[in-house]
Amino acid sequence: MRKISVLFVCLGNICRSPLAEGIFRDKVQKAGLEDQFEIDSCGTSNYHIGSLPDPRTRSNALENGIDLQSRGRQFDRRDFERFDYILPMDRSNFRNIQGLEPRHDAPYTLRLMREYDVEGKGQDVPDPYYGGERGFQDVFDILDRSTDRLLESLRSKHNL
Ligand code: 4NP
Repeated sequence: MRKISVLFVCLGNICRSPLAEGIFRDKVQKAGLEDQFEIDSCGTSNYHIGSLPDPRTRSNALENGIDLQSRGRQFDRRDFERFDYILPMDRSNFRNIQGLEPRHDAPYTLRLMREYDVEGKGQDVPDPYYGGERGFQDVFDILDRSTDRLLESLRSKHNL
C-alpha cells in the first residue's frame, strides 16, 4: 500500500517542525504503523540547513522521552509532489508555502498544524526561538495534542 506522507513546516526547521516530526513519529511507532507513514520536516528559510534541532528543543524533547536527530532542510517545490499532508506551524509559514504552490489543482492537503489542536484550534504554534524555557514545554504540549488528533484523523480517513 502507498504510504501516507506528512511534512511538518516551520521557519528554521530547528524548533517547532522537527519536534512535531519527532513526536508524531513516536506516536506512529507506538501504534505499530511506521510502515504506513513517511514523515519529514523542513523550514521555509535556509537559515539552518544541515543543523541539528536547537539544543533547547532537543533537551526539552528528551525530558519528554523524544530523541531528535533530524537535520535542517529547506522546503522545496518538489515537496508538493512528495507529500500528501503539508502542515505549517503558523500563518506566516502557511503563506510562504502558499506562495510557492503550483497552479494546478492540489493533490495534497495544506493545513495549519493547530487545525488539529482541540485547545486553540487554528492558532499559530508560537515560535519559542527568542523566548524562555517555558516556551519550549508549551510548544511541546501544543504539538503533543495536535499530533494526537492528526494521527486519529489520518487513521480514520485512511482506515488504519
Ligand atoms: P523554528 O524556530 O521556525 O520553530 O525552527 C526558529 C528557528 C530559527 C529562527 C527563527 C525561528 N531564526 O531566525 O534563526
